[in-house]
Amino acid sequence: MNSRKIILDCDPGHDDAVAIMMAGRHPFIDLLGITVVKGNQTIDKTTKNALHICQYLEILVPVFQGMDRPMVIASPPTEERIHGESGLDGPVFGPLKKEAEELHAVGFLISTLMASKGDVTLVATGPLTNIAMAMRIEPRIIPKIEEIILMGGSYQMGNVTPAAEFNIFADAEAAFVVFESGVKVTMCGLDITRKVLCTTDIVKRMSTHTNPASKLFSDLMSFFIESQKRTFGWEGAPLHDPTTIAYLIDPSVLTLKEAHTDIEIRSEQSYGRTNCDIFHLTNKPFNSNIATDIDVDKFWDIVENCIKMYSDINLNEYTL
Ligand code: RIB
Ligand code: CA
Repeated sequence: MNSRKIILDCDPGHDDAVAIMMAGRHPFIDLLGITVVKGNQTIDKTTKNALHICQYLEILVPVFQGMDRPMVIASPPTEERIHGESGLDGPVFGPLKKEAEELHAVGFLISTLMASKGDVTLVATGPLTNIAMAMRIEPRIIPKIEEIILMGGSYQMGNVTPAAEFNIFADAEAAFVVFESGVKVTMCGLDITRKVLCTTDIVKRMSTHTNPASKLFSDLMSFFIESQKRTFGWEGAPLHDPTTIAYLIDPSVLTLKEAHTDIEIRSEQSYGRTNCDIFHLTNKPFNSNIATDIDVDKFWDIVENCIKMYSDINLNEYTL
């Protein structure tokens, strides 16, 4: 299978970190670069976290700092309650040597897509600010985007309000731009991410592979499981963002349904809601593929296979 060219746009974030780990070494994925956006934490913290993850796992791709606030609304609060003060509480990394590139993330998205043959997929696991800004600044990139696979939204309940999921809520105008762009959007929403709950048994399973990826996974999930239990009462932490990478590696892991999705940007109560017409109640044209189910066993097998790909890195040379 030829590897798929992707740019991963993220806001690390514990689950973003696992998505970076999975994309970093898989032979089916050609990770061209990581663009970072303000979301779970401030842009400085999410950028620093992305650099730490790449340095620790020896993922030799460029990291680009992006937008520090949404396109229109005042910056919403960061997610300390879930990801902690650093945005990646749990692991204690060593001194950071890797630096972000000079080029802004939006500039990297535009230059890479304009130079491409239309074979680059954007994977988004944070608010869509960088991608929407790139589309507005340089609309010629739109036909150059092969697909946007995003973690965000929900056709059922939200997680930051009853109506809205965090990534969309954090910049609903950006999501509006992306879903109206005409680019093929595959949406991995809470409807399926809440089915892949990382429990302590999953952590034990992944810890049987003694390498930096399994250690990072264990240190991240120990914090993430606690914060999710405290906030939502879950018995495990929904591993939201890695569902996008698992889909890239093996599309059969998800069940998708074509639908028209509208993004609510006017309502105060339901701002950031993804109204996914999965029953085709309106005659609006399809603009998205909505994940309606996930093969949970296959998902954890994919995660475990990605962790095993780091077994050539000697654990005792690295201190978290
Ligand atoms: O709602 C879950 C999403 O918001 C995940 O991407 C998580 O990392 C946060 O960004
Ligand atoms: Ca995220």
